[in-house]
Amino acid sequence: MGSTSSERTDLQKAFNTSPGLEDESAVEIIRREDFSDVTFMLEFHHPMMAKAAKPGQFVIVIPQEHGERIPLTIADFDRKKGTVTLVIQAVGKTTKEMQQTCHRGTPLFGVVGPMGTPSHIGNNKKVVCVGGGLGVAPVFPQARAFKESGAYVIGVIGFRNKELVFWEEKFRKYCDEFIICSDDGSVGIKGLVTDGIKLALKKHTDIDEVVAIGPPIMMKACAETTRPANIKTTVSLNPIMVDGTGMCGGCRVKIGEGIKFACVDGPDFDGHQVDFDDLMNRLKRFNEDEKKALERWSVSCRIRGKEAPPTGPRL
Ligand SMILES: Cc1cc2nc3c(=O)[nH]c(=O)nc-3n(C[C@H](O)[C@H](O)[C@H](O)COP(=O)(O)OP(=O)(O)OC[C@H]3O[C@@H](n4cnc5c(N)ncnc54)[C@H](O)[C@@H]3O)c2cc1C
Ligand code: FES
Repeated sequence: MGSTSSERTDLQKAFNTSPGLEDESAVEIIRREDFSDVTFMLEFHHPMMAKAAKPGQFVIVIPQEHGERIPLTIADFDRKKGTVTLVIQAVGKTTKEMQQTCHRGTPLFGVVGPMGTPSHIGNNKKVVCVGGGLGVAPVFPQARAFKESGAYVIGVIGFRNKELVFWEEKFRKYCDEFIICSDDGSVGIKGLVTDGIKLALKKHTDIDEVVAIGPPIMMKACAETTRPANIKTTVSLNPIMVDGTGMCGGCRVKIGEGIKFACVDGPDFDGHQVDFDDLMNRLKRFNEDEKKALERWSVSCRIRGKEAPPTGPRL
């Protein structure tokens, strides 16, 4: 932690956060970058976590002392600098609160990780790494690891429009071929990431694996695109998680005939085996409670004279 205790007190007052910085277990945010109205990046210093982190893993963050625990994928890690990077989409109470309160110099009350089974990088010769919207961030460490293992990497990333694009150059650096897609054609090819996958499949008949990360509906469509050619397709699932250690069963997902716990058995799974409809139904289970929590928080923001961030659609 770089700041003195008087600076810490000033920061706490300035941002009205929990007293986490006084607590040695808190993690200090050292960098923040906003990609759009709803998406932002946070980097924190944690050399042990950066050393242990592997592509495909996630952390559970408790932003402030009495806050909710939320799972977030490790979007990047730098073992030399000892840093870990998260990319967050503000969709509900906790992520919007983080968007409002998490700034450089403020603490995250607790970060647990790395969690989950790391992605299998293996000896693939040719892979397609697909990121849809926010999914560009979690698929990035895998694209880099495939490249570093000697694979030929085809990157396919997609956004609704040009304004939402982030990490294009960072991602492109690790790709031998790169396709960017947008729903409205404002950048790259006009179309969905599945159109990008089709282009790659047409050009290359020797693809070993497609890794696709994004909203469940997008991952389902990617898996259907590769199913006819029976190309191994790995997806990263995002069911509701509570403890993240395989104890509560909250994150159960249907894979083929079996049930798996995404937090310990995944989050990576064979996309051709995933029951995406069940996943999407389970994700809706707490919609009413989530709506109420967001409304209560927005009211408390207004009372404190702080405007809640705008409600943006998911990327
Ligand atoms: C392994 C994993 C990795 C993830 N990585 C990222 C990431 O890198 N960046 C990112 O922005 N989001 C990520 N998510 C989703 C993120 O955890 C949720 O958006 C967040 O918990 C929403 O909390 P909220 O209070 O802001 O919104 P809420 O209004 O509470 O929820 C909004 C939606 O988020 C989902 N959600 C809510 N609570 C949880 C929970 N405890 N666990 C999982 N999903 C939940 C539900 O679909 C819900 O409908 C990941 C989820 C999982 C399981
Ligand atoms: S989150 Fe509890 S078992 Fe996975």
